[in-house]
Amino acid sequence: MKLSVNIDHIATIREQRKEGSPSPIFGALLAEKAGANGITAHLREDRRHTNDEDIYLLKKMVKRLNLEMALTKEIKKIALDVVPAQVTLVPEKRQELTTECGLAVFGNEELYKESIEEFHKKGIEVSLFIEPEKNEIDAAKKINADIIEFHTGTYANAFLKDDKKAIKIEITKLNEMITYANQKGLRVHIGHGLDLNNIVPFMGNNLIEEASIGHSIIADTIYEGIETAVNKMRKKIL
Ligand code: PXP
Repeated sequence: MKLSVNIDHIATIREQRKEGSPSPIFGALLAEKAGANGITAHLREDRRHTNDEDIYLLKKMVKRLNLEMALTKEIKKIALDVVPAQVTLVPEKRQELTTECGLAVFGNEELYKESIEEFHKKGIEVSLFIEPEKNEIDAAKKINADIIEFHTGTYANAFLKDDKKAIKIEITKLNEMITYANQKGLRVHIGHGLDLNNIVPFMGNNLIEEASIGHSIIADTIYEGIETAVNKMRKKIL
């Protein structure tokens, strides 16, 4: 399983002082050096962490940039100008602390279809962040998404509460939907709330192409440095 490291939280700390440090770009380069296969950054409408300049610099400096974004006119224009290797479309709410759920692709296919075509014309791969549900997978396939990223937040919350019954239900659901999506020819990523402990049930599942992880790695970075934190996860999900 590949690892894309989300560096938004480095920018979150920078924004506390707005004095340029710590640098999400430097963090991204160190994460790559430690074995990250890709770097993810979310350009939010309110620019609460990563900003436009970061995205342009990341595109220049990292090997594979995944730009997480809501499909708004403004952010889409930037994405088409930056041309990252991949965009991941997510729902976005102003008040949320972090992305709270997957996109409602089912029933809104027309909303995404045309933009996916525009991204494809520029050679940008498109990932849709969705709940592990059959109708969402079918809808993503119908509109030619390349990748789907399953929202693992519900699973991670069950893990936090040590709710064994819910953990089992969520793992079963995720595994079934990973297989289903794979059979449909979609590449599968997972992300949200994943850490060194709750990733364990997915280790060795070669149907998962990539895990997208931010918070836990940047939290571990405070204690042990970004290279060690990235390297530990990299070795775990080999
Ligand atoms: N994937 C997506 C689509 C996300 O929105 C986020 C959060 O920014 C992540 C992965 C990473 O989640 P976390 O920071 O909890 O590891």
